[in-house]
Amino acid sequence: MMLQDLLLPESILLHLKSRRLGTIIHHYLEIGSTNDAARQFAEQGAPEGTLVLAEEQTQGRGRLGRPWLSEQGTGIYASILLRPVVKPRYAAVLTLVAAVAASQAIEQACGLITDIKWPNDLLLSGRKCCGILSEMQAERDEIRYVIVGIGINVNQAAFSEQLGQRATSLHIEGKQTYSRIPVLCALLQRFELLYDDLQQGNRAAVLQRWVERSSFAFGKQVTVALGNRKNIEGQTAGLSELGNLRVKLADGRVEEVMSGDIVAWR
Ligand code: BTN
Repeated sequence: MMLQDLLLPESILLHLKSRRLGTIIHHYLEIGSTNDAARQFAEQGAPEGTLVLAEEQTQGRGRLGRPWLSEQGTGIYASILLRPVVKPRYAAVLTLVAAVAASQAIEQACGLITDIKWPNDLLLSGRKCCGILSEMQAERDEIRYVIVGIGINVNQAAFSEQLGQRATSLHIEGKQTYSRIPVLCALLQRFELLYDDLQQGNRAAVLQRWVERSSFAFGKQVTVALGNRKNIEGQTAGLSELGNLRVKLADGRVEEVMSGDIVAWR
């Protein structure tokens, strides 16, 4: 790995335009999970915007208990500590906002247009290039903090045969190697703007940004796995004000999905 490719705090701070997100950076060559490290900083009272970065994760975690492949120097493995002043029931919107920010950043820094698969998977050519894992700590109907963990496949040249059916990278799709720093700085800047909007109560406007960037928002035929319940099938019909996915079933009823996984679509 070349030194100029490392996500060193001093290199990032040179490019950073955000004012709060990422102004305190903890950078690791190797770590279990940046989300776990960020949680420890949060418990020690670290301020909002604290950013944890790693070149490699040995225990990278995805949604629904899945692992997140985090090879050295190829991807962005980042966790941002937020202390939002919103009720816990609105926390899911934050994760959607992070997906919008990542999508905007990839467009800005690499010129690649991603689709957003609900809730927060970024796709290129139908394959995943970015995932987000938000973890919240709340008490008495107040959020103490939220860790937003973002993984972007930037320069992976290939994936295993099995993973390659579902995963891709910016490098594979854009056919070039990208410096990770502009992607990360754009992400922090975009996230901060959207987050400020959200904190000022413009939830509908930020959800609209998600809708504009997702082919999954309306009219997509989907199968959604709902935790321990059986799958549902239907056509997507937008988002609720809490960011739940509305799915119109064959009998005309509309189900609001709070948490689940779209396992098939067309
Ligand atoms: C998913 O799509 O399942 C979410 C993937 C989230 C991966 C990121 S990488 C940085 C942060 N640390 C982790 O252990 N996970 C998140």
